[in-house]
Amino acid sequence: KASENDVIYKAHDFLAKLYNHCMVKTPEGKGAREYLNDRGFTDEMIEEFQLGFAPDSWDYATNYLQKRNYPLPKVADAGLLAKREFDGKYFDRFRNRIMFPIWDPKGRPVAFGGRIIGSGEPKYLNSPETTLFQKGKFLYGFHLTRSAIRMKDQAILLEGYVDVITAYGNGVQNVVASLGTALTKDQAKLIRRQTESVVICYDSDKAGTQAAIRAADELIEAGCYVRIAKMPDGLDPDDYIQTYGAERFEKDVIGAAPTVMAFKMEVLRSGKNLSDEGERIRYIEEVLKEISGLTKAVERDHYLRQLSEEFSLSLDALKQQVFQFHKEGK
Ligand code: UTP
Ligand code: MN
Ligand code: MN
Ligand code: MN
Ligand code: MN
Repeated sequence: KASENDVIYKAHDFLAKLYNHCMVKTPEGKGAREYLNDRGFTDEMIEEFQLGFAPDSWDYATNYLQKRNYPLPKVADAGLLAKREFDGKYFDRFRNRIMFPIWDPKGRPVAFGGRIIGSGEPKYLNSPETTLFQKGKFLYGFHLTRSAIRMKDQAILLEGYVDVITAYGNGVQNVVASLGTALTKDQAKLIRRQTESVVICYDSDKAGTQAAIRAADELIEAGCYVRIAKMPDGLDPDDYIQTYGAERFEKDVIGAAPTVMAFKMEVLRSGKNLSDEGERIRYIEEVLKEISGLTKAVERDHYLRQLSEEFSLSLDALKQQVFQFHKEGK
């Protein structure tokens, strides 16, 4: 079993280097390289994250793997090649894509995300799950960024590969991303083992906002102190840093990130007209439901007082309502 895995590790390492060579050193990779350079990716960033290019060919990787005597069926099982139905021939699964190696926590490449150049579907083609790659157990960039997370005693959780690379390359190194899925318990624990303090900075759109709240709940359950950063509508951390720079990102976005509860309150508030009595009461109820879900008494007390002051309501009434919601399990 160990040696069976070994060949898959080796195949990933081999292809990561091959794709990187293709990107950096060959005319075929020029377009991809220029695309990345235009997006603000420096040669150092490309090197550090071993970005590569899978050329527009059906047999580029297949031929190289075959020449090196890799067992193609096993390599195909790991999602690096595909098999043609009618004659059982293997061919390249990743074609004409920018290749992002994905590493396990020990820094071994065990999967790839392949981005289309420009627009098209799917934007990212990812390796399937295998015994070596379970995306719910890994975090993108973690093997590179773990020490910075420890040193700063803070993790910044981002959405995408590109966000991690841009942040890291511009000096914000305590970053990780989940791998295109909702943050799992395992990933939350992985972060918690490095630090207690997490700032979530997902894409500033509806999906990102909802995902951030879910990730926050998971991190809180794992024992973290969590804040959720806000950015101008429609931007992601990569866009923000490329536009405004890393210093402003650290100061205005990460440094100013509200607590999860304050963030949730802002989300609940948005789109409501609080000078309307009905909408105001609905907002207060929604906040109270959130407060009833808080496990720390000190926190509950803090937000109840805030609410009581803002809307001139008796603290007792609010407490009673929270108790009621808690019992109903809302
Ligand atoms: P985004 O759509 O936000 O992409 O997906 P991005 O990271 O901003 O990339 P650019 O800037 O357009 O190049 C965020 C993450 O979700 C996963 C990937 O992990 C991606 O980094 N994803 C997205 C997929 O796995 N497949 C997709 O088709 C799209
Ligand atoms: Mn997104
Ligand atoms: Mn949960
Ligand atoms: Mn994005
Ligand atoms: Mn982006």
